[in-house]
Amino acid sequence: MAQAPSWSEHAVTLVEKAVLAPSSHNTQPWFFLLGEPYVDLLADRTRALPINDPDDRELTISCGCALLNLLLAAASRDFQVENWLLPDPQEPDWLARVSITRDPAERVPEADLARFIEARRTCRTRFESRPVAQEVVDAMVTAAAAEGAWLRPLKTEALRKRTVALVVEGDALQWGDPGWRRELATWMHTRSEGDGLTVSAFTAPVAQMVVRNFDMGGGVGSKNRELAESSPLLALLGTDGDAPRDWLAAGQALQRVLLVGCSFGLRASYLNQPIQVASLRGQVGELVGGNGFPQVLLRFGYAGNPLSPAPRRPVEDVIEWT
Ligand SMILES: Cc1cc2nc3c(=O)[nH]c(=O)nc-3n(C[C@H](O)[C@H](O)[C@H](O)COP(=O)(O)O)c2cc1C
Repeated sequence: MAQAPSWSEHAVTLVEKAVLAPSSHNTQPWFFLLGEPYVDLLADRTRALPINDPDDRELTISCGCALLNLLLAAASRDFQVENWLLPDPQEPDWLARVSITRDPAERVPEADLARFIEARRTCRTRFESRPVAQEVVDAMVTAAAAEGAWLRPLKTEALRKRTVALVVEGDALQWGDPGWRRELATWMHTRSEGDGLTVSAFTAPVAQMVVRNFDMGGGVGSKNRELAESSPLLALLGTDGDAPRDWLAAGQALQRVLLVGCSFGLRASYLNQPIQVASLRGQVGELVGGNGFPQVLLRFGYAGNPLSPAPRRPVEDVIEWT
């Protein structure tokens, strides 16, 4: 008779689900220390984006997304799961400790969301005009609140217009910065590298050279204007505070929102430029009344085109045994 998988085998399977989380520029800025019964999540700041994300805010959000995947994947396998955020104030890279035990646990209803971890992908193409039903919007708003963050739909034409203008301005400011372009170019990788934004092996050197050397802010801005204007739903995810704990909550909320959306067949993509540019972030906050801190700006909609999965590093590269 085949032996039941050991705790260690289960833990590796759970980390395999965690790393399917989204991350800015697909940097996958995480590391996992495994030793029964704990899985510790650490920030891998060697994968930081100092120009795009000088405070490691998005890096921490990305790790929060991975944490939620880990928790949901464990819960869906009927493990008892407990977690502590930032367990040691002296160790800011230690983002979370998760205890995963075989004690009989009552299945939490959200465990079913784990089924969508693999299907969730960022969709950067145009969405159909089909509206997003209020029931779906409400479910995503509830999902964000469950993690201590908020999701606010940007509904009126005036708000959408203002949002699009800020996105276009963000594109112009980022692309006008040679340092930002250089950083982007260094994360344009071929699929076989297992991370970064995928470019074909054939065009990679030219694409990187073009991004490094030319300000394409105008063209990128027009494309993003078109993508945003044609998206049936724009929404801002934010938090009441703006410290690492809030960024982790934002990440967990983002991932829960994305998985709930995915469960309804909805796709999502990001318009974060005006949040990443410090001089515009306050104006993004004003879109929703100026209370709290904007973390991620999203567009949602439906599209039928197949999406190939973005690459991930082999799980062995992000695991250490204690
Ligand atoms: C915090 C955060 C910020 C992101 N910002 C952007 C962005 O500004 N533009 C974009 O196209 N994608 C953005 N992404 C999506 C990532 O590029 C994407 O998750 C990554 O390439 C992996 O692809 P996948 O989501 O399909 O698995 C962001 C993701 C996260 C978690």
